[in-house]
Amino acid sequence: MKNKNNRLFTLDKFIEESLYNKKHGYYMKKNPFGEGGDFITAPSISILFSEMIAIWIISFWEKLDCPKQFNLIELGAGNGEMMRVLVNTFNKFPQFKNSCKINILEKSELLKQTQKINIKDAKIKWLNNLNELNNFPCIFIANEFFDALPIKQFLKKEKKWYERHVNFSNDKKLNYLDIPFDMQKFEKKIKFKISYKQTFIEYSPLTIKYLKIIINKIKLNNGGILIIDYAYLEKEMKNTLQAVSKHKYCNVLKSFRNSDITYNLSFNLINNIIKKFGSYTSLSTTQEKFLTKIGILDRAEILSKNMPFSEKADIYFRIKRLIDESQMGHLFKVMFITNHKNKFKLGF
Ligand SMILES: C[S@@+](CC[C@H](N)C(=O)[O-])C[C@H]1O[C@@H](n2cnc3c(N)ncnc32)[C@H](O)[C@@H]1O
Repeated sequence: MKNKNNRLFTLDKFIEESLYNKKHGYYMKKNPFGEGGDFITAPSISILFSEMIAIWIISFWEKLDCPKQFNLIELGAGNGEMMRVLVNTFNKFPQFKNSCKINILEKSELLKQTQKINIKDAKIKWLNNLNELNNFPCIFIANEFFDALPIKQFLKKEKKWYERHVNFSNDKKLNYLDIPFDMQKFEKKIKFKISYKQTFIEYSPLTIKYLKIIINKIKLNNGGILIIDYAYLEKEMKNTLQAVSKHKYCNVLKSFRNSDITYNLSFNLINNIIKKFGSYTSLSTTQEKFLTKIGILDRAEILSKNMPFSEKADIYFRIKRLIDESQMGHLFKVMFITNHKNKFKLGF
């Protein structure tokens, strides 16, 4: 970073340095989850969120004809809260549990240790990369994983394309610098006309890399991926880069290595990309519709039947955060990608 010849970073390199620098990166040096941290994710808002995901996974496994051995893979497990609840729920379904090989892909060593403490299941395997998976059917789960991967930004000004960089020339004050970019050459390289009808592009090379491996696993061994994330469905891409610290938005450049940097996924872009890999079923909906269709409100009613009013109110208050359209209900979207032959639609 201090190297004088190396003070200009493409945006994805800047985000990689900010979030995942081995020593100083945001996710590598602290556990940012929870009320006392910087942000809170759905599994820590309500246990019912992860229970709904557990029901969805078990139902999908049944639809796949209950394979005797299959891989469940959580991508980016954070503090391990979702997997903790999944394991507890799976323990009530012994035939399912015995068939399920649980895997976690986690980049942060610190969070890996947190996950190992929170999820007390000796059989979980922490993967170094997805190619370590054996050839069983694979069910991938990604809650707020892809929005944490570095992105590039490209912008069109007067018919010319530029790539956004971050300039470190003045250490105290970072600023953006847009540098002319050969979009045609880039599109030839990625074999995809990403700029079609766009004036602004957000593109994550790592997302493409992961989706390629995941789609290939699904093609070879059957299965699917469930993505839950900040996302939008419109075709036109927009600038959605944001940083969060202590539950408030902050300036991406002012809090280098000390804030969470995220963006909203373009589900349209993901769909266009997976089309390049072959012909797959892709379903999408809002988090509100997904959780409601699986039965989060029915489950809350059963659970709270004999509870005192204050506990009952707490359960519904938490569910409201997850499904209300002015809170997470519409901001978060859910996408399911699977082989054509699987006619599974629970939640969509
Ligand atoms: C925003 S957090 C979401 C955590 C969790 N899924 C949740 O919902 O609370 C993103 C997670 O992905 C992990 N992560 C980011 N990039 C990764 C990568 N390339 N490979 C594996 N894990 C990664 C982070 O360390 C973190 O655990």
